[in-house]
Amino acid sequence: MSRRNVNAIPTDDPSAGPVLEFQAVAMRYGRSPEVLRDIHLSLAPGSFHFLTGASGAGKSSLLKLIYLAHEPSRGLVRLFGRDIATLPRSELPWIRRRIGVVFQEYRLLDHLSAFDNVALPLRIAGRKLSDYRSDVAELLHWVGLGARMHALPPTLSGGEKQRLAIARAVVARPDILLADEPTGNLDHEMGQRIVRLLIELNRQGTTVVVSTHDRSLVEPSGMPVLRLEAGRLYGVSAAA
Ligand SMILES: Nc1ncnc2c1ncn2[C@@H]1O[C@H](COP(=O)(O)OP(=O)(O)O)[C@@H](O)[C@H]1O
Ligand SMILES: [Mg+2]
Repeated sequence: MSRRNVNAIPTDDPSAGPVLEFQAVAMRYGRSPEVLRDIHLSLAPGSFHFLTGASGAGKSSLLKLIYLAHEPSRGLVRLFGRDIATLPRSELPWIRRRIGVVFQEYRLLDHLSAFDNVALPLRIAGRKLSDYRSDVAELLHWVGLGARMHALPPTLSGGEKQRLAIARAVVARPDILLADEPTGNLDHEMGQRIVRLLIELNRQGTTVVVSTHDRSLVEPSGMPVLRLEAGRLYGVSAAA
């Protein structure tokens, strides 16, 4: 399970502050009532958290705030020490590259092979195949898809697709990995495998947040839990 060449250890000074900070953050869609209110959150570099809450509690909305797909209606959001409200637009791509996202519905490109799906972020960044070929192959082996490298996503099982989506989300070595209900479409055994993979990634240095409403995955892991209820966040652990 070595990921020597594709490791995600943050390069920042470990004495630096949290990778993410929310102070009194609220969020709404358009003119509707706020779906998140008074959220305080601080994620230490290298921490792991589950984000739980019933359907509609605001898990996806909270993650959208972190990956900058939505703006808060109130409060302060700081990523890697930078206040995103005053961040020059030119710095947004730099911040976005440091955050990998995995979605329940995979969002793979069906006409590209498993290898090319994972390689795409690197190709877009202008890297050469000769330069990333072995990294991508190693990463695919790490997620257990070494033998399926040339397969197209429609021929993969749900668990294989989700492991491919994880490989793609981490290939550019993000500092933060967000996974939004990554086990929602999978059976319990594959869900556990996905959680083990995310915990292993965290052990290698990546800050991880995984939303799920599946308690049977959360409890045995012993990992800290953030809980959303009626738009408010509870149970921020000492580890955060
Ligand atoms: N694009 C949207 N436009 C308007 N309301 C939304 C949108 N997405 C989510 N909501 C509402 O925001 C609330 C929180 O939703 P969501 O963050 O998706 O919860 P969860 O991921 O925990 O199921 C729900 O009331 C939902 O209906
Ligand atoms: Mg959701």
